[in-house]
Amino acid sequence: MKFFLDTAMVDEIKKADDWGILDGVTTNPSHISATGKKFLPVVEEICKLMQDRPVSAEVTATDPDGILKEAREISRIADNIVVKVPTIPAGIQAGKQLKTEGIKTNYTLVFSASQALLTAKVGATYISPFVGRLDNVSEFGMELVHDIRTILDNYDFDSQIILAAARHPLHVVEGALAGCDVITMRINIMEMLFNHPLTDIGLERFLKDWEKVPK
Ligand code: E4P
Repeated sequence: MKFFLDTAMVDEIKKADDWGILDGVTTNPSHISATGKKFLPVVEEICKLMQDRPVSAEVTATDPDGILKEAREISRIADNIVVKVPTIPAGIQAGKQLKTEGIKTNYTLVFSASQALLTAKVGATYISPFVGRLDNVSEFGMELVHDIRTILDNYDFDSQIILAAARHPLHVVEGALAGCDVITMRINIMEMLFNHPLTDIGLERFLKDWEKVPK
C-alpha cells in the first residue's frame, strides 16, 4: 500500500516526506494553478525532490495527437514522471502508443468500471477512480474500487489502482481493505491519519503521572 500526496505545493511535499511515509505525488491542472507558477518549473522541482518516486503530471490536450505530443514532452521532464491522461476516447486511443513508447500513464477522472477496463486494456500503469467525487453525487465510490480490483485480478492486468479524491481517513482504510495499490490524498487527510483523541488523553495522563515518580 503506497501513499501519494495530491498536491503541487513543495512545502506540503517536504512536510509529508519528513514523516517518512511518502511514496509519490499526483498533481493536476488545478493543483498547478494553485501554486501561481508555471507548469514546467513546478513539476521539475517536485520530480527532483521525489528522486526515484513517481510524480504524475497531467496533459491538457483532448485529442489523440495532442495527448501524444504533450505526453512525450512531459515524459522528458524526468525519469520518475508519470503522465496523467484523461479517461476520454482520445485518451484511450493514445494509450497503446504511449505504452509502446514506454511512457508511464495515470488515467484520471475514472468514474465507472467500464472506463477502468478500457484503460487496463491499453496498458495503463495507474488507474485513478475518483472515490470522493462519486460519494458527492450519492454514488458509492468505494464500490467502484472493489469492481476495478476484481476486474484487474480476473484477467491479471498489471495496472495499479490509485484511490483518488479521498475525503477522510476512512476512505484510506477502506481503500486498503479493498486492495488498492495506492491512495493519493491531500495533506489534511494525511494529517488526520495520525490522530486519535484517546492517544492524546492517554499520553497526557502518562506524562502527568510520570511527574510524580521520584527522580
Ligand atoms: C487525483 O490524482 C486527483 O488529482 C485528485 O485526487 C482529485 O481530487 P479532488 O476531488 O480532491 O480534487
